Amino acid sequence: MIGLIDSLARPLMGLIDPERAHTLAVLALKLAPLAPARAEDPRLAVRAFGLNFPNPVGMAAGFDKHAEVPDALLKLGFGFVEVGTVTPQPQPGNPRPRLFRLGPDQGVINRLGFNSEGAEAVLRRLAARASKGGIVGVNVGANKETSDRIADYVSQIEMFAPVASYFTVNISSPNTPGLRDLQQGKVFDELTARVVEARERAARRAGPTPVLIKIAPDLALGELDDIVGIARRRRVDGMIVGNTTVARPPGLTDRQQAQEAGGLSGRPLFALATRMLAETYVRVEGAFPLIGVGGIDSGPTALAKIRAGAALVQLYSALVFHGLRLVGEIKTGLAEALSRGRHASLDDLVGVDAAAMTAEPWPT
Ligand SMILES: Cc1cc2nc3c(=O)[nH]c(=O)nc-3n(C[C@H](O)[C@H](O)[C@H](O)COP(=O)(O)O)c2cc1C
Repeated sequence: MIGLIDSLARPLMGLIDPERAHTLAVLALKLAPLAPARAEDPRLAVRAFGLNFPNPVGMAAGFDKHAEVPDALLKLGFGFVEVGTVTPQPQPGNPRPRLFRLGPDQGVINRLGFNSEGAEAVLRRLAARASKGGIVGVNVGANKETSDRIADYVSQIEMFAPVASYFTVNISSPNTPGLRDLQQGKVFDELTARVVEARERAARRAGPTPVLIKIAPDLALGELDDIVGIARRRRVDGMIVGNTTVARPPGLTDRQQAQEAGGLSGRPLFALATRMLAETYVRVEGAFPLIGVGGIDSGPTALAKIRAGAALVQLYSALVFHGLRLVGEIKTGLAEALSRGRHASLDDLVGVDAAAMTAEPWPT
């Protein structure tokens, strides 16, 4: 069914305004009669952060910002879904247009700026589906106008703990002025201290909920040293590498769209994000698992992320160009890689290329 919708709708979706196309895609997922997800290849199962993932392919944050369709996405075969970014208070985000396709490059630029229906609306939806199971993470952020950014993360961790499988603390969106400063040494130390305290307080009521930190791919390696050191010392549960980039790789062909302000994602982000993942992996030394995201558009690119250090992967932009059937293709590609190497699980492959990658010239 979704394959049919996909193949009929995608050529049309490419012609209409990208934000309207996104709204229509969410609506289609709300309305489409979807069968329960097919049985998974058991070799694709991953245990990480104390959770059992049926497969390692997740829907990245930003597609289902308001938790409208997590169950439809799970039925389509994602191993987990990350909803959000959610902000405590509702806010409209930046003026439109704020979402751009770079067709020839298979890239996307967005400067949505955390358009959010707010935590209460999202909590209501997640509470209504809580008994359904499946791994649904909640990505939390800070309101643009807030007197205490860190408090915005803390309050949402306490609020969502009963209904979230895990939390992502998003401090890496380029579209909220000043947000990325939370990645800097002293402030990052205070942030992690306070979110880990919130995690512990919430655990007494709601049981354990892991907290992951999502970082930018644009950090300098010295900054990454500090972040990983602090994350390990404060005992966060994992990291997501990473968010969109403010860089514009020289190879982009859609020069006009490339000038739009915002974060770039999709194929042009792959090399940088994968290198940052490998750099993070060698610094983490197995202290916690990583989620690799940025430019995955095939089985081989998902496998490259795993080999660079990802226990799990997420994607978003490639779905705009390839449709939802990509999820199944990626899982098939990963299963074939396991068969080729006679591996019992993906664990065998996590990080095997990381050290070698960090010795390569920096990607441009
Ligand atoms: C339209 C759009 C909106 C996004 N919104 C969010 C968001 O709200 N929170 C977040 O952490 N990441 C957000 N992202 C970043 C994605 O989660 C992901 O990190 C990034 O796009 C790289 O993956 P991709 O190349 O597979 O798209 C957004 C990305 C896109 C394209």
